[in-house]
Amino acid sequence: MEHKSQLSLLLHIVAILPFVQVVLGGTALGQTPQMGWNSWNAFKATVNYTVVQEVIDLFESLGLKKAGYNYVLLDDGWSSFNRTTDGYLQANATSFPQGIEALAKELHGQGLKLGLYGDSGHYTCAWRPGSWGYEERDAQTFASWGVDYLKYDNCGGFQSMTEAPQIRFGAMKNALALSGRDIFYSVCEWGYQFPWHWGGGIGHSYRMSGDITTSFTNETSCQCKTAYCLNTGYAGCSVLTIINKMKEISQYQTRGHWLDMDMLEIGNANFTLNQQQTHFAFWAALKSPLIIGADLSKLSNDSVAVLTNQAIIALNQDVLGEPVIYREEFSKEGLFQVWTGKVQGGFVILLLNEKSYPQTVSLVLSDLGLGSPKKVVELWSDEKLTNCTKFDGILESYQTLVFKVQT
Ligand SMILES: *[C@@H]1O[C@H](CO)[C@@H](O)[C@H](O)[C@H]1NC(C)=O
Ligand SMILES: *[C@@H]1O[C@H](CO)[C@@H](O)[C@H](O)[C@H]1NC(C)=O
Ligand SMILES: *[C@@H]1O[C@H](CO)[C@@H](O)[C@H](O)[C@H]1NC(C)=O
Ligand SMILES: *[C@@H]1O[C@H](CO)[C@@H](O)[C@H](O)[C@H]1NC(C)=O
Ligand SMILES: *[C@@H]1O[C@H](CO)[C@@H](O)[C@H](O)[C@H]1NC(C)=O
Ligand SMILES: *[C@@H]1O[C@H](CO)[C@@H](O)[C@H](O)[C@H]1NC(C)=O
Ligand SMILES: *[C@@H]1O[C@H](CO)[C@@H](O)[C@H](O)[C@H]1NC(C)=O
Repeated sequence: MEHKSQLSLLLHIVAILPFVQVVLGGTALGQTPQMGWNSWNAFKATVNYTVVQEVIDLFESLGLKKAGYNYVLLDDGWSSFNRTTDGYLQANATSFPQGIEALAKELHGQGLKLGLYGDSGHYTCAWRPGSWGYEERDAQTFASWGVDYLKYDNCGGFQSMTEAPQIRFGAMKNALALSGRDIFYSVCEWGYQFPWHWGGGIGHSYRMSGDITTSFTNETSCQCKTAYCLNTGYAGCSVLTIINKMKEISQYQTRGHWLDMDMLEIGNANFTLNQQQTHFAFWAALKSPLIIGADLSKLSNDSVAVLTNQAIIALNQDVLGEPVIYREEFSKEGLFQVWTGKVQGGFVILLLNEKSYPQTVSLVLSDLGLGSPKKVVELWSDEKLTNCTKFDGILESYQTLVFKVQT
């Protein structure tokens, strides 16, 4: 008898657990920023099974998987232009002849995870069917295929603008929670309506800006150079602009709800090594998702080395989950920037030269108010500072030095 009631109590507890998790808003997903590869920047809507095969191979041979990249994300274009006659999403049969379920199995067999793309409007950005009004059905479809991740976009919000983003993106959050599978939810609503004040309640990550472009400093169309700007010409933002926008908002993110600075352009753009390192260092230390956007078969050795730098990745995946914060009092507006944040065992400093010419910079580390430095290592060069209390040196064009400070 006693056994039976213990068992029944246990069953009750087991039944309640998922409920408790949903109510508390916390699953185990997203405890550190997600790492992976996304098809959009390099392949746009033409992603296909052959491309994914190559990605699986290169994840292994380039050491990306070993470095922690595990999500393979199919962006817009994976699906057919048409739902099935019953109204379900289906893969483009030419691009994915075996379908998505088989692909998920294959990726899982390789120790990788599969992400798909969807949209909160009537249509996706590339005019495939959106999920507006189909949220529960589509979440169910993703779950039944074994999908691990959903990037959910904001196009066709133009047709359904009558609903606020909180409603449209919240509907899919609820649908995923009811789907019976833990699916990472990556909200992509381009930073409209200041999602750093509400996005954490909806997604495991959420975009804070319009799309990134392949330029380091020159915008292609980005009207908004600040986080709180209201102009809707958001896309085409340079790496430096996205870093600058984070000055205002990095402090709002919380563990498990990461501010997404968009996919990495390393390997897509003609960035110098300093620019690539700056791009990666800021994305890592600001706890942005690290999603490679390049054609992996065309990555230079330099780009691979940047993307697999263990010490920089460790900042991104640090257990404290704290983003670096802009330190205005130590920076020189428009010239160089100082950012600091806590990591396990001490703190980290990012020192960025915003200019195309070298600058001499001096910083007293013990003035930063983060404890007294015992050992300081610059992570790109792996060199120790001889004097722990002070940095005096030259920053090259667009270079970022990253100091890990033991206290
Ligand atoms: C898949 O996409 C790649 C890159 O766009 C292309 O070269 C290749 O022909 C495509 N393969 C198939 C089977 O469609
Ligand atoms: C499948 O994708 C191809 C190539 O991207 C496209 O031309 C075709 O229209 C798509 N087919 C359907 C049914 O969506
Ligand atoms: C497929 O979708 C396209 C684009 O939305 C639409 O124009 C076309 O009529 C649809 N075809 C079928 C057979 O439903
Ligand atoms: C882009 O920025 C560089 C400086 O970083 C400048 O020399 C160049 O003229 C700019 N190009 C355009 C098209 O604005
Ligand atoms: C990189 O440089 C090459 C050669 O100058 C140019 O053709 C290409 O368009 C550039 N790519 C980007 C993304 O700027
Ligand atoms: C890139 O690295 C590979 C493997 O380590 C090496 O074989 C190749 O020569 C390198 N390429 C260049 C241009 O250095
Ligand atoms: C380190 O720098 C501080 C601040 O400039 C200075 O007071 C101190 O003498 C230096 N220590 C050594 C060992 O050079």
